Amino acid sequence: MDGHLYSSRSRAGTRIKAGLLLVAVCLAVSAAHAHVAQLTIQADGPGKPISPDLVGVFFEDLNYAADGGLYPELVQNRSFEYSPTEQPDWHPLKFWELQKRGGADGSVTVANMRPIHRNNPHYVLLTVRTPGEGVGISNSGFDGIVLQAGEKYDASFWAYQAFMGQMWGRGDNSKPMPVTLRLEDKNGDVLAEASMEIGGRAWTKFSATFVAPRTVNDARLVLLAHDRGGICLDMISLFPQKTFRNRPNGLRADLAQAIADLQPKFVRFPGGCLVHGQGIHQYYNWKESIGPVEQRRSGRNLWGYSQTRGLGYFELFQFCEDIGAQSLPVVTAGVCCQHAGSSPNRGQEGLPLDEMPAYIQDVLDLIEWANGPATSEWGATRAAAGHPEPFGLKYLGVGNEDAITPIFKERFQMIYEALQERHPEIVVIGTVGPFAGGEDYDNGWAFARELKLEMVDEHYYVSPQWFWDNLERYDAYDRKSSKVYVGEYAAHDRGRRNTLRSALAEAAGLTSFERNGDVVWFASYAPLLARRGHTQWHPDMIYFDSPNVYLTPNYYVQQLFGQNSGDRYLETILDAGAEAKLAASSVVNSRTGDLIVKIVNGADEPMEMNVRLAGLPSDVSMKATKTVLTGPDADAVNEDGKTPVVKPDESTESLKAAFTCTAPAHSLTVYRIDR
Ligand code: AHR
Repeated sequence: MDGHLYSSRSRAGTRIKAGLLLVAVCLAVSAAHAHVAQLTIQADGPGKPISPDLVGVFFEDLNYAADGGLYPELVQNRSFEYSPTEQPDWHPLKFWELQKRGGADGSVTVANMRPIHRNNPHYVLLTVRTPGEGVGISNSGFDGIVLQAGEKYDASFWAYQAFMGQMWGRGDNSKPMPVTLRLEDKNGDVLAEASMEIGGRAWTKFSATFVAPRTVNDARLVLLAHDRGGICLDMISLFPQKTFRNRPNGLRADLAQAIADLQPKFVRFPGGCLVHGQGIHQYYNWKESIGPVEQRRSGRNLWGYSQTRGLGYFELFQFCEDIGAQSLPVVTAGVCCQHAGSSPNRGQEGLPLDEMPAYIQDVLDLIEWANGPATSEWGATRAAAGHPEPFGLKYLGVGNEDAITPIFKERFQMIYEALQERHPEIVVIGTVGPFAGGEDYDNGWAFARELKLEMVDEHYYVSPQWFWDNLERYDAYDRKSSKVYVGEYAAHDRGRRNTLRSALAEAAGLTSFERNGDVVWFASYAPLLARRGHTQWHPDMIYFDSPNVYLTPNYYVQQLFGQNSGDRYLETILDAGAEAKLAASSVVNSRTGDLIVKIVNGADEPMEMNVRLAGLPSDVSMKATKTVLTGPDADAVNEDGKTPVVKPDESTESLKAAFTCTAPAHSLTVYRIDR
């Protein structure tokens, strides 16, 4: 026995080849045991060291995952930067409404002559001709602003006084412009209000804190000016005070908590295709995502909307630290997405070679920003943001699903060599194309071997059955070659729904990743987040709208593997008969000493099992937590707003070294045994 036992189907096949005679002799015996699987775990040995960091998350701003999602800014288009490059009918005033209250008259126009910062070029001029009860603008956020009763919200805006009375300096600029900033419900009833006065020609930030008097699902933020004149406005914001770990400019608490509950060992960001963008200068520039939010560059997100980068590198590194996960940023390899257009090389284009040194410097600066002392140039900007200690970056992805062309290889190698020379401590993760096989996969692996890369990033979105058919994929991988990061994967079932079937296929795949945890170092399901009504890609792990978070069966699989990770793999032998659709893995968590056994039954029938923890004394009772994830059938999905039909059910048991159990039809069972 080699100890790598997989799906029972492949094992049964091997046996049949071993001797037809045996089959004849054993027919009667097999029939008798057809529904009792034998699972033997070598529980007394040290096991094989495996990645302690296998299960992580992949965060990309698609499906409104950042703005309108994990980044809890409640005003949409706060800096008037929306543009038709994002959606044909978008413009700087999109999602803003001019308000003329009580006989008032005035206008709002877009300006760019005197911006707060060059990265934030547009702002608005609000002109009051007849004050009435106020001329202003309002914003209803992302599908209506949701306020929770009793919660505090920081409302703010930047402004300066353009003129009073008449335009062009004929008015009296010695008196300020009185404004009110308020929260209203959809009927115009005022929920909270603050008064301010705008004077002077310098851009100045004005703030107020509002307490929501009641829970409202469709509020709007309104800013009204009350005298003849004009004021310039930008960065009009409403931000909940309650963020994850109460970080300023922090993350939406419930969504961040759902991610934290996965106990991910790493967080990959910012993508995905967002990394390289469509078009050569459209890549995600990390430097534009740090610093004061009013100085960050917002702009087109290749998924067809706008990104403010309010949730930028600082916030993501901080989040990783808060949840005890490694940061795993990915930078472009100096090429844009091969699906970007109709240019040669399947649409892929490279940065001009004379721009590469500056680009490579940006990559090196990222490492200094993350890890350098607070006295270094980029370390100082991290310290200025409130984090003088280094973040401890260890891994850096270079490239995402790129076509492995000469254009790609030349630029990747330039970046890689610079990193090796300046930062040999950083593990560079290469890319081997978008699929589990094929030209880019083969060429990517050949290139990785040539460069002796420490790790490469494999991606596959495939059918549930593919996972079951490929449980042995990594068993034969060369142990001396690059390690594997399965950076994006998901089982795509019929209709791309988050069925129990798809989740269990991923669970079966994860057992094979654990068994091969000496090769498969990281794995992240993708994509992570999707806002209902604004989703470009299905399936996703977590769905949400403004007030709610919806957890899929796929989420619970990731959670059970994340919460029950190990760092040593124990030989696990599964013998279940040719018809079974069963997978299992066993790990030890050295920190707690727990032995963790995972069993996935993808079949329509329950499976009776004899489990043997070989090498443990037979008469000693051990405490175990048993968690079962199952549902009514393989097509089961968790419907929004209803009690989830697929969710883990936990119980405690007392076990001996030999015990029996039933793996229910369509289930993942996790035993966590206190040896
Ligand atoms: O996860 C969604 C997309 O799938 C990613 O952006 C890309 O890398 C992959 O093709």
